[in-house]
Amino acid sequence: MHSCTVIGLSDMKIIVTTNHEELSQRAADLVVDAVRAKPNLTLCLATGSTPTRTYELLAAPKNVKSDQFAQVSIIKLDEWGGLAMDDPATCEVYLQQHICQPLGINSERYLAFQSDSPTPEEECLRIQKALEKVDPIDLCILGLGANGHLGFNEPAEWLNPFPHVATLTQSTLQHPMTQQTDVAIPYGLTLGMANILQARQILLLVNGRHKRMLLEKLLASRITTGFPASFLWLHPNVTVICDQEANPGGHVR
Ligand code: GLP
Repeated sequence: MHSCTVIGLSDMKIIVTTNHEELSQRAADLVVDAVRAKPNLTLCLATGSTPTRTYELLAAPKNVKSDQFAQVSIIKLDEWGGLAMDDPATCEVYLQQHICQPLGINSERYLAFQSDSPTPEEECLRIQKALEKVDPIDLCILGLGANGHLGFNEPAEWLNPFPHVATLTQSTLQHPMTQQTDVAIPYGLTLGMANILQARQILLLVNGRHKRMLLEKLLASRITTGFPASFLWLHPNVTVICDQEANPGGHVR
């Protein structure tokens, strides 16, 4: 039994959990429920430290043994460009290790940017065309970037709806994943804001004291391209799961 507070803020549901472990369990339960309801679910997955434990829980032996994920498809949300696909810093290696391999997601059920494409713009077009051929994403799991970005949709004067080559900000380039490579990362590859907002359901995970001001900014519900996560207010089915450290004041348990 999990203890948590559920706060309905218009269409955004906020679940406050005690800590990162409970947040992760809650998120994993939500994914498992979604797979039970729709075995051929399409999941779009972020990487980074926030969802790692959730993925570990999903890849637990009981899920692997029960074959629950046998029909699930996975779409990679974003990728560090210019790295070899087997570079330990890539989202590719992260997703393969944490979820695709443990759950036996084969290449037919996996859509992902090639990090090392010699023609990144064409690679983005390939992803957009592939997305157009499949049903909408059922559940998109997002983390909250240090400057309010989603995927690599960085704060800017305007946002890009579709898969694109992203100019990364200094703060994004300082993300811990980039410390795992010696290669200077020239750009990011990411689904665009429309791709994200077309998902049937969005799950935003936010943990840690360092994310509290960001979550506060999101909950202020002011939609601006300067804070891409604020566009989640335009989506009818967003659940935010945060831990107590990230919980900004007004939503105390
Ligand atoms: C990176 C990733 C995003 C991720 C974000 C937050 O920029 N490209 O997909 O959501 O960082 O990462 P973390 O969970 O480590 O804070």
